Amino acid sequence: MSSTTNLVEQSKKLCAYAAVDNNLKPNHKIIGIGSGSTVVYVAERIGQLSNKSDFVCIPTGFQSKQLIIDNKLQLGGLEENPIIDIAFDGADEIDSDLNAIKGGGACLLQEKLVADSAKEFIIVADDRKNTGILGKGWNKGIPIEVIPNAYNKIINELNSIGGNAKVRSGLPAKAGPAITDNGNFIVDCDFGQVPASQVDELNKKIKLMVGVVETGFFVKMAQKAYIGNADGTVTTLS
Ligand code: 5RP
Repeated sequence: MSSTTNLVEQSKKLCAYAAVDNNLKPNHKIIGIGSGSTVVYVAERIGQLSNKSDFVCIPTGFQSKQLIIDNKLQLGGLEENPIIDIAFDGADEIDSDLNAIKGGGACLLQEKLVADSAKEFIIVADDRKNTGILGKGWNKGIPIEVIPNAYNKIINELNSIGGNAKVRSGLPAKAGPAITDNGNFIVDCDFGQVPASQVDELNKKIKLMVGVVETGFFVKMAQKAYIGNADGTVTTLS
């Protein structure tokens, strides 16, 4: 592992541990666990607690479910736990208003369901994600989950409002489109930089397109973000 990779990994761990240590309280019983490589450390930290069996953890997808199981945490579902006390998740980018882009791992729908069900939603991310304006650092476009046979219709509509949209390929690319945990496709749409004042309006426009299931814009959903910096410090945004 190169020293840069080590530093990034260290930042992810630092912010995740700080987010858990400063926010998880004994009265929190239902916890949302997001997806991605940073939230791995959130599950790890919760797994180290002596009272870990007091918590029921709600996953946001397949990887997240495995994280909960691997850390010997109690797995639950949103069906029987529709109100979540606190949820932790990563982000692809965060702006100065705590708007976020999510869905780099194609889990945005379940992630948004969990975040929306949570009384407190906390983002954990390394400092590469804290760019101040969405679209400044994250150049892969806004992930948008769509009904499979609507993808070309939606690509046309996204392009007509100034986007540059393409359907996400699965791995390996020749195997066809990426399929989400919900059986849908992901369209990634680049809108360039989106100022914080315009995120809500753009999100609403996309959501109104018939065939769009959910967007990767998390508009002011988070109460706090814990940013792990390369110098070993953690910045809290709120
Ligand atoms: C998955 C996500 C992830 O939370 C996001 O991609 C951040 O991942 P990482 O912590 O690996 O940078 O939204 O859909």
